[in-house]
Amino acid sequence: MKDVSRLAPVWSKLTDLEVVRGQGALVYTSAGEEYLDLTSGIAVTSTGHSHPKVVEAIASQAQRFIHAQVNVYTHDLLEPLAERLFTVTPPSIETFFYSNSGAEATEGAIKLARQYTKKPNVVVFQGSFHGRTSQAMAMTTSRTGYRSGHMPLPAGVFVSITPGYLEGEAVLDDDPRVQKALEYLDYLLLAQSAPSETAAFIVEPVLGEGGYLPMPKAFLEGVAKRAKEHGILLIVDEVQTGFGRTGRMFAVEHYNVEPDILVMAKGLASGFPMSAIGARKEIMDRWPVGSHGGTYGGNPIGCAAALATIEVLTEEGFLENVRDRARQLRAGLEEIALEDATVGNVRGLGLMVGVTLVDSSKKPDGERVSKMIAHARHESKVLFMNAGTWGNVIRWMPPLVVDETQIQRGLDAFKLAMKNT
Ligand SMILES: Cc1ncc(COP(=O)(O)O)c(C=O)c1O
Repeated sequence: MKDVSRLAPVWSKLTDLEVVRGQGALVYTSAGEEYLDLTSGIAVTSTGHSHPKVVEAIASQAQRFIHAQVNVYTHDLLEPLAERLFTVTPPSIETFFYSNSGAEATEGAIKLARQYTKKPNVVVFQGSFHGRTSQAMAMTTSRTGYRSGHMPLPAGVFVSITPGYLEGEAVLDDDPRVQKALEYLDYLLLAQSAPSETAAFIVEPVLGEGGYLPMPKAFLEGVAKRAKEHGILLIVDEVQTGFGRTGRMFAVEHYNVEPDILVMAKGLASGFPMSAIGARKEIMDRWPVGSHGGTYGGNPIGCAAALATIEVLTEEGFLENVRDRARQLRAGLEEIALEDATVGNVRGLGLMVGVTLVDSSKKPDGERVSKMIAHARHESKVLFMNAGTWGNVIRWMPPLVVDETQIQRGLDAFKLAMKNT
């Protein structure tokens, strides 16, 4: 063991495990241990670790071409992937741009919205997370830790209310907080960022880093309605919710909204760094040639991995498994919640489920969550992660290929951790 690490210490670490192999929902360490990975590497390995079809696609593409730079020449997977994405994304999404990470794609989506509308400002919603680059950080409001020490951030970002966010509760459509939050958005457009200066609303249908809190249907539809009325673009950030995670290919399918721009990453290529911006053709067509780009976007191996991933996700029964496992998980967690008052609530959509932990005065208990995560890892060899401004949400984001036994193993580990912390 070396006594000095040559790695930057900036990464926050959930565990010190060194993994050497992954398969499906399991990872194996250099110490010869097996762990159930309910983090999916932060909601990425949709098809599980090293799905054979994805591995095969990457390996055979690597034999042909590793890098085929899009400005220099085209390659034979760019169009097929765009065509495939067109078939799985909402009908309003017609044309695609490729990049490498979620942050790059959210930032690119804002560049596109500004070019198309010729307007400067953007509205985000409490609890948002859109990435780590400067514009993406400016649009991230889930924790100061993501922003502190990096100020000043780009201006022109306004923060509107997410119903139930401060209370840490998923809010139903008829809850008065939905209308209050929409009224606040109206106020923001009157008092802070006029529609004539607002290019876009950017919204996660289910807050990711913000704590797996789904936007109420009536709220997201109210936001979309206002966007349309005011000529403001609706950018839906599906970096974490996309590609089957919520039991549908995209989370917006649970809502009656048509995104103008859709941002995708994480589950898109099963872990190969790849992201995409999809938009109405009319919007993409007005992005001036050369005003955006990147060396690696549209990388052939990423395209091959994405095509194979989509093939797996669209296999018969794949999304049914997501919905069945989601039902099993929710039922198990709700049963635990009934027996234990330290569970604040269980919420989410599909295999994106958050459980909040509270203390005896119902205040968020982030410390307990940290202890539970450590307990599950040490005693049950199950990996969980936290989320949310107060760090008191345990998030469940298993690979979408997770089976019934593995969900039960996760529930048992969770229960044991509750009992012993
Ligand atoms: C909703 C959302 N948008 C953007 C990002 C940023 O993605 P990346 O970490 O790939 O830059 C994330 C990452 O967690 C995310 O959850």
